[in-house]
This record gives sequence, structure tokens and C-alpha cells, in this order.
Amino acid sequence: MGFADDLAARSKDRLTAIIEAGQNAGGGAGDADAKALLQVALVNEISVSELAASWVASTPEVDVKLAFARQAGDEAGHFQLVAERLRALGFDVDGFVPPAANPLFQYLATLTSTAERVAAGLFALESIAYGVNENFIAYCRAHGDDETVRLYESIIQPEEREHQQIGRALLDKYATSADAQARASAAVDRVLEIASATRAAAAGRLGVTCFPGC
Ligand SMILES: [Fe+2]
Ligand SMILES: [Fe+2]
Repeated sequence: MGFADDLAARSKDRLTAIIEAGQNAGGGAGDADAKALLQVALVNEISVSELAASWVASTPEVDVKLAFARQAGDEAGHFQLVAERLRALGFDVDGFVPPAANPLFQYLATLTSTAERVAAGLFALESIAYGVNENFIAYCRAHGDDETVRLYESIIQPEEREHQQIGRALLDKYATSADAQARASAAVDRVLEIASATRAAAAGRLGVTCFPGC
């Protein structure tokens, strides 16, 4: 069992709690404007794209640098797909202004080591994204929004899973010292802790819990 497996096993319960909190059990009215939920996706996609892009130049390992560059590009693509879907639903995408970074992205921006960045930005964030997006897909399907289901199932989710898998491989390759592993574990703990709080706050605001991730 490699370090990434260890990390996944250690964080499994907390990750599951975040994802299960998004299954809408007792989550308010259980009915929200699709446009409101897709706007959450829009914010998340651009936030992750910017974060990953901000790490490209300052990450020395070429394969990690390229993984962040690719993540930045893929998330920008997800933004475009969600934006087109919102436009079709009548939302004024051109008037969209990304909000200031939430506490999760403020924390992520402070990470400087490769092991922490990979653990937090590729492994933890993408694990959350994949899980909560599955909930969002189920919600869209239940509400007859087949086009959004198609976008997520055919393009967005396979890429989120790939980002997470790249993160695991890079953790095994680079988080090899005791110090790097300790930093990576601490970063994952912090991401799960902050994400749990920010998602709970957003659920309160939106009145549903099944909103998407990045
Ligand atoms: Fe992603
Ligand atoms: Fe994404």
C-alpha cells in the first residue's frame, strides 16, 4: 500500500461525510433553481482553474507542473460547458463576476510545497468534486435536466476522476519523505475540514445540499 492509499484510507470517513451531506436528505426544500446550482459550479470551476494555474510556474517538478497546467485547462473547459448550459437556460453569463475567494481557496493559495499542493488541489479537492458531482447528477436526473446530466457524465466527471488519479500517482512519486507526507496529510485534513464548513454554509444559503463541486 503506497502513501496515496494510506491517505485515502485515513480521509475516507470524512470525505464520505461531506458527500453524504450532499445527498439532500433533509436538505431544505429539496428543490432549487437549476440556474442557482449551476452558478455554484461556475464559481468552483473558475476557482480551481485559477488555483492550478497559479501553481504552474512555481512548481519545479515538470510532471507536476504539467498536471496543474492540464487541470487549469480542463477546469476552464468545465467552466465553458457550464456557462453554455446556463446561457441556454437564460442566465446572463457575460454579466457573471466571480466572487472573492472563499476560505477554502484562501487556504489553498497559501500552500507552497509540491506534496501539499498535489495532496490538497489534485487529490482532496478532486475527490470531493467527484463525489458531490455524483449527487448533483442524481438531482438533475430526478428533475429531468438530461442535458446537464449528459455534460457531467460524458465530459466533466471523467476528467475530475482523472485529476484525482493523477494526484494519487504524483503523491506516491513525490511525497516520500516523512516531512512531505506529514505536510500532505495536514493539507488534506485542512481541506476536508474547511470544505465541510463552506459546503454547509452554502447549503444553508441555497436551501439544498446537492450542489456541484469543481
Ligand atoms: Fe477537476
Ligand atoms: Fe471541474
